[in-house]
Amino acid sequence: MARIERVAVLGCGLMGSGIAEVIAKAGIETWVREVNDDLVAKGRGRIEKSLGRAVDKGKLEAAERDRVLERVHFTTELGALASVDLVIEAVTEDLAIKNKMFAALDEVCGADTIFASNTSSLTIADMAAATRRPGRFVGLHFFNPVPVMKLVEVVRTIATDEDAYTAALDFARAIGKEPVEARDTSGFVVNRLLIPYMLDAIRALETGVATITDIDKAMTLGTGYPMGPFVLSDFVGIDTLHKAAEIMYEEFRETRYASPPLLKRMVSMGWYGRKSGRGFYDYSGESPVPVELGL
Ligand code: 3HC
Repeated sequence: MARIERVAVLGCGLMGSGIAEVIAKAGIETWVREVNDDLVAKGRGRIEKSLGRAVDKGKLEAAERDRVLERVHFTTELGALASVDLVIEAVTEDLAIKNKMFAALDEVCGADTIFASNTSSLTIADMAAATRRPGRFVGLHFFNPVPVMKLVEVVRTIATDEDAYTAALDFARAIGKEPVEARDTSGFVVNRLLIPYMLDAIRALETGVATITDIDKAMTLGTGYPMGPFVLSDFVGIDTLHKAAEIMYEEFRETRYASPPLLKRMVSMGWYGRKSGRGFYDYSGESPVPVELGL
């Protein structure tokens, strides 16, 4: 199949904005679709901020930043995505919302257009089955922060065509990422290992093994992880972690994927981590302070 030259990204939140930035940086025309003008403005702001940070650090010329931004076209209309070669969905982790969007795009895009999801824990087949193009459906799973993390999991379902899969692998390399090939089971490779690790850290905290600070310190200093499990949970999002765990528990019915009570209580309280200002740490001050959870 021909090289992927025009790409649409659905959703311009934390992941979508990073994905769009990386693709546009690789010289590929990129359409970003958000549901309303307010979210378009927020999404554009995220991309501008990230590129601005690269300019400030001397990693990107100001003129190149402007060219990258010219390659990103924002829209609220799914109809504007008719001519793209690849669609990457990065909207909220809700199968019904994703499938509604894919079903609408199925009518809009050409028969050859590849559809991809950046889902962290849903299975790709559950989305592919909602379209008339299951053969042209893959997973492209990026990692936060997308401009920094080198990995993309490229996921094939039991129905993915070989040429669509090869095109997806080539695309991942063309945007400067390292692909790994993964089968379509919930969590693919990374989240299958990472989510139980983060849940286990919460269980260790619940049972009083050590404090938040000391568990984080142990895993950074003891194993060289860049972030301890609680800093990472706040970074990924407490709500996102809980949602992924629920979906993986549903898939495998294994207790290691079950959300610990503390995680559920934090979701109820709206303590979503960095994005809400409070998770395992409080981010309201100069530097993060571990939250007193009364355990
Ligand atoms: N956007 C762009 N660049 C960024 C960035 C961002 N949001 N955050 C950091 N960077 C860049 C910095 O500019 C810096 O680049 P430089 O070395 O060339 O100057 C580099 O990354 C390192 O950043 P910092 O020095 O500010 O900070 P750290 O050294 O602490 O690194 C980190 C930050 C890269 C986020 C590092 O802590 C890390 O790798 N953490 C683990 C992240 C991780 O595990 N991500 C996966 C989460 S799971 C997931 O996404 C899957 C999902 O499905 C749940």
